[in-house]
Amino acid sequence: MLTTILYRSHICDNVSVKSLEEMVATANQRNGDADVTGILLFNGTHFFQLLEGPDESVSTIYQHICGDRRHYNLVELMRDYAPARRFGKAGMELFDLREHDKDDVLQTVLDKGTTKYQLFYDDRALQFFRTFVEATEKENYFEIPSADSWEFIVDDSLLPPAKVVPADSAACSFAFQPIIDPLAREVVALEALLRTPDGLPPQAWFEGLAGDEIYKADLNSKKIAFAMARDLGLRDRTLSVNLLPMTLVHIPGAVGLLLQEIEANGLVAEQIIVEFTEREVISRLDAFTDAVRQLKAAGIRVAIEHFGEGFAGLSLLAQFQPDKIKINRDLIRDMHKSGPRQAIIQAIIRCCTSLEITVTAVGVEKAEEWMWLESAGIYQFQGHLFASPCQAGIPAIRWPEKKIPFI
Ligand SMILES: Cc1cc2nc3c(=O)[nH]c(=O)nc-3n(C[C@H](O)[C@H](O)[C@H](O)COP(=O)(O)O)c2cc1C
Repeated sequence: MLTTILYRSHICDNVSVKSLEEMVATANQRNGDADVTGILLFNGTHFFQLLEGPDESVSTIYQHICGDRRHYNLVELMRDYAPARRFGKAGMELFDLREHDKDDVLQTVLDKGTTKYQLFYDDRALQFFRTFVEATEKENYFEIPSADSWEFIVDDSLLPPAKVVPADSAACSFAFQPIIDPLAREVVALEALLRTPDGLPPQAWFEGLAGDEIYKADLNSKKIAFAMARDLGLRDRTLSVNLLPMTLVHIPGAVGLLLQEIEANGLVAEQIIVEFTEREVISRLDAFTDAVRQLKAAGIRVAIEHFGEGFAGLSLLAQFQPDKIKINRDLIRDMHKSGPRQAIIQAIIRCCTSLEITVTAVGVEKAEEWMWLESAGIYQFQGHLFASPCQAGIPAIRWPEKKIPFI
């Protein structure tokens, strides 16, 4: 199979252009032996490379390139498959854009094309070439420092770690996880995550329930969440709880019951955010939208979690606009290295900015993920990097602090 990989990266400060020429000579030999073509563009700061050839050889060479310490912030832009090569001559060619006129460099690259047919201008790979040469995407190249430029300081002064025992401990329990603004050192909210009394995830708790029992159990579990929040002293905090969207549709008076429990535990509706997962099909959208209106009328805010991964996607936003959207780990994972994930997340941010919807990134585990998302304009984070969920308690928070460089 003929594979094409495109990536861009940032040259390290200590790398001379002279040493690049040597690297290209060696790479030319290696690529030739592996039947791989490598077209490398360099603009003085960034590299952009196309690798083309047999799947295994391209993947192996790309892995070496990813680990090369002469460049950093490597972002894979495209991985695609084609019936024929665009650039037939196996080996390696470097185009230093500073030595070419901007208007003819693309043509010079295209002239290297050896396909039977003329290279198509609407070919995705060539569009990426054009974009790099014309630098039209440059504002989206976030130059993030390496992960080890941060240390994480454990702090429990904002939320003293505490443990409680749920009153009806046989039923279910909750783990609490903070949502924070790391640079402002602010706890934005706490999410109550459903667990079995033994700490197993919600799937284990819902197992064995069928039909409306699921929705009843879902709603009833909130009684325990609110009681635990009260016992943990979270009266002045924003508290997020999860609800299956269809619980509001299937259980008559669900909103009234929620409000009753909020009040019974000394909490107020304005401090509560109800999070709906977009993974469950919302089959009666009108009834659901009506229930959401009731929540909002009572002062409860609404969030959609796992945004973009479910059935409704962006079209859900056309129907109703939540106060908050949560982007989950499935999209966040290693997004600092993935062009497609970056493009999707930026589209979500742009859309939410236009609608004044707050975006939270969930499942953040790596400092690079967090730094990229901060650069893109997200300020609220939830994830193991900062604080893991704590069963029946509140965890300490790890605040990031920039290491002072050694002089
Ligand atoms: C921007 C850039 C592009 C590179 N392109 C290639 C290439 O096309 N083929 C190749 O064999 N090595 C290329 N290299 C060098 C590899 O990263 C690596 O040094 C080489 O494969 C030897 O791997 P090793 O040092 O792990 O043995 C490139 C390096 C950089 C910084």
